[in-house]
Amino acid sequence: MTAATIPGLNGTDDTVPTKHAELLAWVQEVAELTQPDRVVFADGSDAEFERLSNQLVEAGTFMRLNEEKKPHSFLAQSDPSDVARVESRTFICSEREEDAGPTNNWMAPDKMRSIMNELYRGCMRGRTMYVVPFCMGPLGAEQPKLGVEITDSEYVVVSMRVMTRMGQAALDKMSTDMPFVKALHSVGAPLEPGQKDVPWPCNDTKYITHFPETREIWSFGSGYGGNALLGKKCYSLRIASAMAHDEGWLAEHMLILKLISPEDKVYYIAAAFPSACGKTNLAMIHPTVPGWRAETLGDDIAWMRFGEDGRLYAVNPEFGFFGVAPGTNWSSNPTAMKTIEAGNTVFTNVALTDDGDVWWEDLENQPDHLTDWLGQPWTPDSDRKAAHPNSRYCTPMSQCPTLAPEWDDPQGVPISAILFGGRRKSTVPLVNQAFNWQHGTFMGATMSSEQTAAAEGKVGSVRRDPMAMIPFLGYNVGDYLQHWIDVGKNADESKLPKIFYVNWFRRGDDKRFLWPGFGENSRVLKWIVERIEGTVDAQSTPIGYVPTASDLDLEGLDVDPNDVDEALAVNKEDWQAEIPLIEEWLQFVGDKLPTGIRDEFEALKNRLNS
Ligand code: GDP
Ligand code: PGA
Ligand code: MN
Repeated sequence: MTAATIPGLNGTDDTVPTKHAELLAWVQEVAELTQPDRVVFADGSDAEFERLSNQLVEAGTFMRLNEEKKPHSFLAQSDPSDVARVESRTFICSEREEDAGPTNNWMAPDKMRSIMNELYRGCMRGRTMYVVPFCMGPLGAEQPKLGVEITDSEYVVVSMRVMTRMGQAALDKMSTDMPFVKALHSVGAPLEPGQKDVPWPCNDTKYITHFPETREIWSFGSGYGGNALLGKKCYSLRIASAMAHDEGWLAEHMLILKLISPEDKVYYIAAAFPSACGKTNLAMIHPTVPGWRAETLGDDIAWMRFGEDGRLYAVNPEFGFFGVAPGTNWSSNPTAMKTIEAGNTVFTNVALTDDGDVWWEDLENQPDHLTDWLGQPWTPDSDRKAAHPNSRYCTPMSQCPTLAPEWDDPQGVPISAILFGGRRKSTVPLVNQAFNWQHGTFMGATMSSEQTAAAEGKVGSVRRDPMAMIPFLGYNVGDYLQHWIDVGKNADESKLPKIFYVNWFRRGDDKRFLWPGFGENSRVLKWIVERIEGTVDAQSTPIGYVPTASDLDLEGLDVDPNDVDEALAVNKEDWQAEIPLIEEWLQFVGDKLPTGIRDEFEALKNRLNS
C-alpha cells in the first residue's frame, strides 16, 4: 500500500506519516467509499489547532470568545436537533443478538454494514477527511490503547485534541502491526459543487454503531460529543467494556478522585453516576470539612485492573473534560471554572454575552441581555433557558488546578472505595454502605436514576441504570453483572474497594434538595473513609450500613437537622414499594441474571419483611 493509492491524499508518498499497512488500507477504503475532496492526517500540533479553529470561525461553526475573558476559546451552537447522545440510534452489532443483550439495540453486523455503507457512500463529498490517531490512557503504558478516528468534521478534530492524547505522538506508538480501534465518523452532509455549508452540518438519519468483536465504531449523522468524539463513550466504555470482559478487567463510567485526610493519608475513590448526575462535580470537589483536601484524576471514565499487590488500580483514559455547563459556577465548582478560564476551551450550546463571553443558567452575574444557544435575543424575562440544559465545556485536563500529579501514571492508582449513585428524589438515602462485594454489586446492578437531558428521552422518569452503564455496555448486561461478581470471587476481598451507594438528590415535600451537595459531600466522603478505617459507626439497615446524623461530621453545616435526618432515612414502606420495580428489572435482565444477584435480592426481601 502506498500513499499514491489514497485518493485525495494531501501530499506525496513521503508525507504519509505512517507505514502501518492496515491503517493505510483502511484509510484508502474509507476514502474510496466516502469520496472526500482531501485526506489529511491530523498531527495534533498547535499550528493545526490554529488552522482548524480559524477555519471553523470562517465557516460560522465557531465564534471566537473575548480574548481577555476566555483566552483562546470558542463557542459552537449546534443544530437544535443535535444536542445529546441518541440512545435510540445507538447499536451494539455483535454477531449474536444475545451478546448485545436486552439493554442494547442490536442489528446483525452484515445488515448494519450494508445500511451504513450506503449512507457513507459519497458522504464526505466537498469535505476534508481527517485521519485522527489517538491514545486512550497514558502514552507511556506498556500496551497503549490506540485508536484512529476518521472524520469529516473539523469540530471533532479540534475536540479530540482536547479530549484524547491525539496526533503524531499517538501515531508514533502505532508500530507497523500494532492493533488499533477503527472509529469512523461522518456528519453525513456532503456538499455539492458550489453548495454553501451550514454552521453545524448533520443528518436527520443517525447511527452510532459498535462492532464489539472486531473493535470497530461506525458513527453517522451527528456532531454532538458522545455521538462524535468516538474515543469517549464509544471506545472507552462500549468497546472497552467488551475488551475488559474478555481480558479480566473493568471499563467503567466512573470519576477518579484523590482524597487526602488531615493526617495526609491518601485515598483514591471511584464513583459511577449516570450522565449529568454529578461525576464532574465530585471529581473536582472542594471539601468543606477542615483539613481535608481533594485532587482530580478523572471525571467520567475509569479503567481498572488488578495490580501485583492484589488491589484494583484505576486509570483515566481521557485527556480533557467534557462537562455539563449549567449549574457550574464559582460556588458549586470553582475548580471547573478555573480550568475553563485558563483558556483553550470549546463551549457548545451555551449563551453568548454582549461582550463576547459565555453564560449559562446558575452562573454568577446574570447579564440583562444575551444571545441564547439558538442565536435568539434573551433577557431574564424570557420564558426559556439561555443555555441548552446539556450544553457543555470541553477543556484540557492539564489546566485543572487540582489535577493529581499521578494523573498520567500508566500504573494507575489503587482504589479504596467505589461509589454508585443516581438522582432519586425519594427512597434512596444520602449514603449506604454495602455489606460486601456481592451485595455492592447488587446495589450497582439495581441502581436507578431519573432521566436527565444528557440523552434524548423524558427528563425525570426513573430508570434502572446498572453501574451507570446502561447506555454504555458493549455486551449483555447479565454477562456484565456476572463479570463484576467474578472480579470479586477472584480477588482477596480485604483488598477490594468497599462499595457505597450515594444519593445527593433526595428532596423534601416542598421539592427542595434535602442535602446541600457539592463541597458538602466531603462530609459523606469523610464518613466513607472512616468506614474504611473502621473508626465510625453505622446502622445496619435492610439495605446496608447507613449513618445517623451523629455519625457524620456536620460541624458548621448550615442545614435544618430535620433535613439531614430525612436525607438519611431508610423507610421500609418506600423500599417495599421499590421491590416490584427491582423485580421487573431483574426479569428484564433475563436468563443471564447471575445467581449471586438473585440471592442478594431474596436476602433484601427477607430483611425488609423481618
Ligand atoms: P456528570 O455529567 O455526571 O459529570 O454531572 P455533573 O457533575 O456535570 O453535574 C450535572 C448536574 O448536576 C449539574 O447541573 C450540577 O450542578 C448538578 N450537581 C452535581 N453535583 C450535585 C450535588 O451534589 N447536588 C446537587 N443538588 N446537584 C449537583
Ligand atoms: P456525561 O457524558 O454527561 O456523562 O458527561 C457525556 C455525553 O453525554 O456524551
Ligand atoms: Mn461529566
